[in-house]
Amino acid sequence: MKIAVLVSGGGTNLQAIIDAIDQGKITNTEICLVYSNNPKAYAIERARKAGIPTAVKSPKEFANREEFNETLLQILKDASPDLVVLAGCLVVIPDIVVREFSNRIINIHPSLIPAFCGTGFYGLKVHEKALERGVRVSGATVHFVDEGTDTGPIILQKPVMIQPGDTPEALQKRIMEQAEWKILPMAIDLIANDRVSVEGGKVMIKGYESLEL
Ligand code: GRF
Repeated sequence: MKIAVLVSGGGTNLQAIIDAIDQGKITNTEICLVYSNNPKAYAIERARKAGIPTAVKSPKEFANREEFNETLLQILKDASPDLVVLAGCLVVIPDIVVREFSNRIINIHPSLIPAFCGTGFYGLKVHEKALERGVRVSGATVHFVDEGTDTGPIILQKPVMIQPGDTPEALQKRIMEQAEWKILPMAIDLIANDRVSVEGGKVMIKGYESLEL
């Protein structure tokens, strides 16, 4: 299975995917492209170090959003991935891309959807809101991308307990280490090995009960 990974920041989720492939925790998979809107994203450096083709195109380079959207679609069609993985991608994925890769785009979100998600909920903001609400548990979610924001069918989730004195930064770090970097590679491996299907808007996973989240 060929995957294209879309990034905007440090790329620790991308690194988790690269490492999982190297360690055989993800099988039948190769990363055919890493795309970023941000030329300064360290994720691009990680891809280059791993010998993975990269593409960098910012919406700011275009006269209007439609031209950017068409260019992004073409970049992905040229790479012809079987699966598109959003790993800390801060660009709104245009409907023309969602339609072209229907049910073949997944996203990692740093909360237990439907909590603390949707427009404006990204990065530290997610954790600030969780701590402000006083929840006892947060975590991460991998879901299919549909034309909404963080609204597609849920594939995997992993809970992370809030600890006394947690700051947004401490919570973000723990959720990345204990949840994101585990369930995103696991979801990719499950899809690469044909263990995931969507029936009636719900995700079915073969052998789900024996997964070690
Ligand atoms: C992660 O917290 C992820 O949940 C969110 O953006 C951040 C990306 O981090 N979508 P990185 O670029 O993978 O380090």
